[in-house]
Amino acid sequence: MKNLILLGAPGSGKGTQSAKLVKELGYFHVSTGNLLREEIARESELGKRVKAVMDAGQLVSDELVVELLKANLNLSENSYIFDGYPRNEVQAETLNGILEGHQYLAVYFKLDTENLVERLTNRRVTKDGKHIYNLKTNPPKVAGVCDITGEELIQRDDDKEEVVRDRMKVFDSTMGPVIDKYRKLGKVIEVNADQSPEAVFAEIKGKID
Ligand code: AP5
Repeated sequence: MKNLILLGAPGSGKGTQSAKLVKELGYFHVSTGNLLREEIARESELGKRVKAVMDAGQLVSDELVVELLKANLNLSENSYIFDGYPRNEVQAETLNGILEGHQYLAVYFKLDTENLVERLTNRRVTKDGKHIYNLKTNPPKVAGVCDITGEELIQRDDDKEEVVRDRMKVFDSTMGPVIDKYRKLGKVIEVNADQSPEAVFAEIKGKID
């Protein structure tokens, strides 16, 4: 299986589709956002600095993120979904080096960003970010509790409306050249992310085969 690089605005459904790709196709999922949140949960000095940056909706330093990423990869054994990496041209260049000799595709989640604030402010997740719900479109069976693990569901600190809007601005200002770069390499498949999660998954599955 080719490695997959997921490109899409905050809330476009990258985490939701990653869970399906892991379950149905056996991919390994590496989310830089989840790795950073794990660092925060450790309450280390580094975690405190990372939290301040994430709570402001800004990007964490390239050096730190790549260190976390590399520590969680075994490309000779597994096929990965890169969720949340790369976030800018420097990271795209770094990932190019990491993926040298390995096959990959970039999956671009296309949709109108108008609805994303509502999607994100209604999102609830488990503490590790692996199980994702939505109060309006995909609520848990019991309010506030994960259907799968029974854990309490939380709202991410960066899902408050003002932070969501800042994250959107960061995405708009940094990701255009990254998407263009993958387009020029002929590596991009586009999916319509403005349809049901099942339909998005079917489209991805059909296009990566
Ligand atoms: P990160 O954790 O990567 O967040 P993000 O990219 O902003 O993406 P999200 O997790 O918010 O959204 P998603 O696309 O996964 O959507 P989801 O499936 O959950 O990054 C957070 C922060 O970490 C960054 O701001 C930065 O500070 C830092 N960071 C991370 N990586 C970094 C890097 N490489 N470099 C530097 N800093 C980095 O879905 C959202 C909601 O919509 C859910 O409620 C879901 O149920 C619902 N939903 C999903 N699909 C559908 C659908 N098809 N229809 C209706 N509802 C849907």
